[in-house]
Amino acid sequence: NKGKYEHYMQKEIHEQPESLTTTMRGRLIRGGSCKAKSVLLGGLKDHLKTIRRSRRIVFIGCGTSYNAALAARPILEELSGIPVTMEIASDLVDRQGPIYREDTTVFVSQSGETADTLQALEYALENGALCVGITNTVGSAIARHTHCGVHINAGCEIGVASTKAYTSQIVVMAMLALAIGDDTISSQARREAIIDGLFDLPSKVKEVLKLDQEMKDLAKLLIAEQSLLVFGRGYNYATALEGALKVKEVALMHSEGILAGEMKHGPLALVDETLPIVVIATRDACFSKQQSVIQQLHARKGRLIVMCTEGDAASVSVGGSCRVVEVPQVEDCLQPVINIVPLQLLAYHLTVLRGYNVDQPRNLAKSVTTQ
Ligand code: UD1
Ligand code: F6R
Repeated sequence: NKGKYEHYMQKEIHEQPESLTTTMRGRLIRGGSCKAKSVLLGGLKDHLKTIRRSRRIVFIGCGTSYNAALAARPILEELSGIPVTMEIASDLVDRQGPIYREDTTVFVSQSGETADTLQALEYALENGALCVGITNTVGSAIARHTHCGVHINAGCEIGVASTKAYTSQIVVMAMLALAIGDDTISSQARREAIIDGLFDLPSKVKEVLKLDQEMKDLAKLLIAEQSLLVFGRGYNYATALEGALKVKEVALMHSEGILAGEMKHGPLALVDETLPIVVIATRDACFSKQQSVIQQLHARKGRLIVMCTEGDAASVSVGGSCRVVEVPQVEDCLQPVINIVPLQLLAYHLTVLRGYNVDQPRNLAKSVTTQ
């Protein structure tokens, strides 16, 4: 049931304040006079000790689920102090990459039925690793075959392009980082700030959804383009990859997410006055580096669309020449949840304006159960 919406993708983008609320329901503890703010993940509580003792955490997934894990990687590394590595499921299986008994492997999948991810799970089970699932589908193969896990509880996702599952996955993995780091006194203030940020997140997502019309106007400008680049780094490297994936898969426009730190190692050659480039430059520890990226792209006459924190338009728009999208600020590690929303809206509107099928892009299936 699409309710008042024309498409499932549109509905699922707009219901993110609610889906995030259900993802967090019963899992955040507000704290009080004698109790610290904390996180309770029922499915993991008996396994946290094992996870904390592991030598490495390996995130495994495909497509959007991989991108969600990439978005959560920095906060997991920060709060756990454990090395976190990333594996695209098919690539891990192709390489038969080393997985050890001392590893915690985390399988991220909306459907819980993706063949590549399931095969990687079988492989990790054979190698004796602890296998944790993060899935939206109760009773799915990944939920059943993992040793433990967390259901993201985002509600059924129908649009082939994953939107609300992506933001809920990031939130669950941020909660996972909080739960693993729960026994560390030195990071308590940081963890409490993130928990406060999680409580506020649905209302901030509601705010960023107000950019709908602005993103539709932007889509009108980009309707006939051949290609779109998206530059991000740090917490928002994943946002660049995921924004580009959305544009590519539904709007059928070539799009590439680029790690801004790699700009001079190749991608800069593409920049001219015609190719549109989105630069994500919201406030965090990488902000000044992104300001310098904007200046360098501007010097090569790049057609820039800059995503920045509210009130920062003047600090990012060199010579007043770029188009600016301002988004609300949240705790740095949660910012990817906010920043992806305008890009989801852009991909949605581009697709509708270009006359393509938003909910069922050509050649794609919601659940990829074959290899
Ligand atoms: C569980 C209940 C929820 C109830 C809550 C009350 C289910 C599915 N969930 O939620 O309805 O409101 O207790 O305390 O009945 N798991 C895996 N692999 C995965 C995902 C989950 O093994 O990929 C396992 C977990 O380790 C856990 C179980 O499935 O044993 C349920 O996980 P989850 O729904 O996340 O647990 P709760 O949030 O505690
Ligand atoms: C993109 C998309 C795909 C899936 C991928 C993994 O919007 O939907 O990239 O993310 O096929 O699917 P799950 O998460 O079900 O394992």
